[in-house]
Amino acid sequence: MKPTSLNEFLGFLNQQTAETFKTDIVDKYLKSHVIDHEEFLPYTFFREETYGRNLIAKSEFFELLVLTWLPEQRTAIHDHNDQRCWMLLELGSLTFKNYEPIGPIIPGKKYTLKPAGRAQTLKAGDNPVYIDDSLGLHSIVNASRKPAISVHLYAGPVPKCQVYNETTKMFELSELEYFTFSGQTWTETIQELH
Ligand SMILES: [Fe+2]
Repeated sequence: MKPTSLNEFLGFLNQQTAETFKTDIVDKYLKSHVIDHEEFLPYTFFREETYGRNLIAKSEFFELLVLTWLPEQRTAIHDHNDQRCWMLLELGSLTFKNYEPIGPIIPGKKYTLKPAGRAQTLKAGDNPVYIDDSLGLHSIVNASRKPAISVHLYAGPVPKCQVYNETTKMFELSELEYFTFSGQTWTETIQELH
């Protein structure tokens, strides 16, 4: 494993196109490079109300985020807007539960989701996890008693996704927000503009 800076990783990502992101180039890169955990600290902001989505960088073809998870914080079951998603655990552990793919989601239709395999718990340093809509849907929870930090690469960016409402059994289109941008909170970004 080659020690790599976040800048080098971003350089690699910025060289990719929509086409190359469809190949195994990212998988190969992640298998042969390791980025020091500390590189992600400037982008690591925990959020009390929900898991935190902190943007590191975004282009037409990808977005890279640090997600922060306090104990018991979780996502609903969701899809990935037809994009590819790689996840790396930087600290702690997260539990992933997968559901079988359901094809194009029809608004207003009720779905009964079938779990695909057993829930999987990943620890910092484990191999990256990958998902896309052809493999299925998933939910993520920090089922541990300690905070967790993960890094998520989406190609291309995922501005919205379908979220499963377990009460109505229907999907709802959800816009995804950022908690911080390039290491800055909204308040700091606004102050800078003045
Ligand atoms: Fe996801």
